[in-house]
Formats: sequence, C-alpha cells, structure tokens
Amino acid sequence: MYAVAARTQGAAVIEVPLGKGFQVDVDALLARVTDNTKLVFVCTPNNPTGALVPLTAIAKLALALRDRALVVVDEAYLEFAEGQVSASALIVQQENIAVLRTLSKAYALAGARVGTLVAHPQIVALLRRIQAPYPLPTTCVDAALAALTPVAIEEARQRMRLIVHERERMARALAQASGVLEVFPSSANFLCARFADAASTYRALLALGIVVRDVSHYPQLAGCLRITIGTPEENAALLGAIGQREVAA
Ligand SMILES: Cc1ncc(COP(=O)(O)O)c(C=O)c1O
Repeated sequence: MYAVAARTQGAAVIEVPLGKGFQVDVDALLARVTDNTKLVFVCTPNNPTGALVPLTAIAKLALALRDRALVVVDEAYLEFAEGQVSASALIVQQENIAVLRTLSKAYALAGARVGTLVAHPQIVALLRRIQAPYPLPTTCVDAALAALTPVAIEEARQRMRLIVHERERMARALAQASGVLEVFPSSANFLCARFADAASTYRALLALGIVVRDVSHYPQLAGCLRITIGTPEENAALLGAIGQREVAA
C-alpha cells in the first residue's frame, strides 16, 4: 500500500528485496538510497513472511540516514511478537524514526480505521499542520476508547496469547503435513508456508470455505500461502483440510 500511496502522490518508489531469512539487508538498502529519498519503510513483523526485523538493524539504518531520510517502522503486528520492544524506544536517540501502530490487528478493530504515529515532537507538529480537521468520526473514537479500557486490554491480551500459542502449534503441525516444504518462523498472527502444490491447496481450501492468501507472486515466496491464525476450531478445520487433500505427485 505504501508504494500505491507514494505513486498516487507522484513520488518515485524504490523497492529493495529482503535478504536471507527475509531480513532487511541494511547495506543493500543503503546502497539504493538516493539524494531524493525522503522516506524508508520497514515492516516488522513483516507481512506476509512474519519475520521480525531486529532493533539493531533499524537503529543502524536510522543512523546512516540521519539528516537525510525518515525511517518509518510499521509495527502493525508487533503485539504478536511476544517480548519484542517497539522501535519507538529508539526515538529518544534517533529522531528520524517514526513508528506506526494500529488497532486493526491485535485489537480486532480494522473497521474503525484507528492507528497511531509515535515520532519526535517536530514530526508530529508538522503532521498536525496538514491533517484534516476532525480526522476521526466520533463513533470510531468511541470504539477505540472502548477497546482501550484496562478490562478490554486484558481481554485483548488473552486473545493475543491464544493466537501466539495456536500459531506455534499450527507451525509444528503444518511442517509435518504432506506437501508442505517449509513453514517460516513467524512473529505475527499468520504463518507463511511453502507448498509443493500451492495452487491446488488454495483451491481445495477455498472449496471448503477456508480463505488463505496466495502470496506466491511475491519475491522469494514462490509456492507460498499465507494462513491467518483463527480460533482453535478454525485452525483445526484448516489442518484437517490440508491433511485430507490429495497432493499432486
Ligand atoms: C504491514 C501492515 N501495516 C498496516 C496494515 C493496515 O493497518 P490499518 O488497518 O491500520 O490501515 C496492514 C494490513 O494488512 C499491514 O499488513
């Protein structure tokens, strides 16, 4: 979406492929930065791989781009990366980091369209000058506030713990399933797995009403499907369907 938004604004987009283990290759990225580069986006945990970018890599990137570009860190899925510290902890020392968080994932509030930017006061002040008046409908504000009471936060945390537990269980089970070539380590609320028969697995699941995302067109992800972790019942249905499908020889 960032590329789409940038192009809509007439901004040039430079895409830098991820390195080994879907990690941000900081040196390769820096080699592609030009004098015109103003924003660098890093997504951690990454969608659709689920890979986490270490804070050390983000800090190195921000240091190299100091006074040149803003490093925007998208942490939409960070709540599922248990124990991981937000890159917002780096802002005190590195002012060219801006962190994006959202209530869309862990708080299941995607319809409200509420998120937050954590950044240096100067960046926030700049954005305040250009933001639309009344940017959020009051119903969305009410929904966000209701999701952020201590009781609601505790309920959300319980859901997150269950999702993380199910993710790990699913990763082990999928790795044993026939036709599954690899399951990538994930710190998000989904798993990305490589199948010997991704297209027919996708169709077999769809026929049973189970929708996964075919991400096989992404670089390095040929034959991969992204599976969102659901309720234990939904996950059991998916594993059952994968176990029962016929894997083409
Ligand atoms: C990496 C990433 N960031 C942000 C979003 C969307 O967040 P929001 O609903 O707050 O726009 C998504 C949604 O799929 C995503 O994958």
